[in-house]
Amino acid sequence: MSPIATQLILWHKDHGRHHLPWQGSRDPYAVWLSEIMLQQTQVNTVIPYYARFMQEFPTLSSLAQAPLDAVLVIWSGLGYYSRARNLHLAARMIMQDYQGQFPDTRVILQKLPGIGRSTAAAIAVFAFNKREAILDGNVKRILTRYFGIAGYPEESRIKNLLWEKSEEVLPVTCRENQIETYTQALMDLGATVCIRHTPICKACPLQHNCVAFKEKRVDQFPTTRLRKPLPKKEAVFLLLMQHQKLLLEKRPASGIWGELWCPPEIKTGIDAASYCQHQLGITVQSPIELPILDHQFTHFKLRIHPQLLQVVSNTLDPHNKFIWIKPSDALEYAIPAPVRKLLKQNFLLDNHDTSNHLNTN
Ligand code: ADE
Repeated sequence: MSPIATQLILWHKDHGRHHLPWQGSRDPYAVWLSEIMLQQTQVNTVIPYYARFMQEFPTLSSLAQAPLDAVLVIWSGLGYYSRARNLHLAARMIMQDYQGQFPDTRVILQKLPGIGRSTAAAIAVFAFNKREAILDGNVKRILTRYFGIAGYPEESRIKNLLWEKSEEVLPVTCRENQIETYTQALMDLGATVCIRHTPICKACPLQHNCVAFKEKRVDQFPTTRLRKPLPKKEAVFLLLMQHQKLLLEKRPASGIWGELWCPPEIKTGIDAASYCQHQLGITVQSPIELPILDHQFTHFKLRIHPQLLQVVSNTLDPHNKFIWIKPSDALEYAIPAPVRKLLKQNFLLDNHDTSNHLNTN
């Protein structure tokens, strides 16, 4: 076996994580859900969402039968909502195209929406004991340091090399859960020891063969891309209030926050009262400016200017696109994290944790 695999498997016994809620289950549905939730979000944030999701949709068929809205409600606050939409779509595809039988190979798993090569490999390992290599952000960091691989890991030449390395160091067999333990150990080492800033090399089982450690260049790997500052966008959110109820609008399926509920949004510089009059058929009193809210996405920053508007008269036909709702009840709906925060800040709601959990690395 490669020295990495041997050392990691040994290390995992005493130092790895053994009690995560999705461990110990070979149910491919549970494994799949956990891997999707963990794609861009840290373990501690995922745990309560995973528990609620499994309670609400305990099986593949229960997820496939649910309306998307119900899935988004459970996902609400976890961010990267395309994950929830793809999950729902993939559940329906497995029920229809695969007769409810979860695909058990990495190659077929990869054909499903939302499942890339590394996630497909993780599911194949944890649910089906297949010998597959993963390459997520943590593993890229470990391998670039261990082998001293310079160059930006997202560049295709470097990424291909990392895939080769990741395959090269796999345990040779899948006997005695070796592949599962090894894969979990790699994830755990990346999350707890070989971390991005100030890694804890003295606790690392791989330090003696690690090129970056031997050359005292750990801080130089992985090579970072020169980051341009994120573009900044601004938007005005209209908090229209009538009889203690707030107007929310369902976003179109495409674009950010697709199918989530938000206050109506306008560009800065547009007159809010005349927008309400002409686009919504609602007459309002003069707007009151509320404190600005900043939100960071992966690719841009959004500055939200909320305005509070009391409704004088209203001819809006809500259809399915709008609802009037008590702000406290809105928290039960699929709303994005910054809207949650906005409601809490401005309506003084004493709700459950509304912090933004997004891991926007
Ligand atoms: N990150 C991605 N998948 C994971 C898993 N199964 N356990 C812990 N962290 C992970």
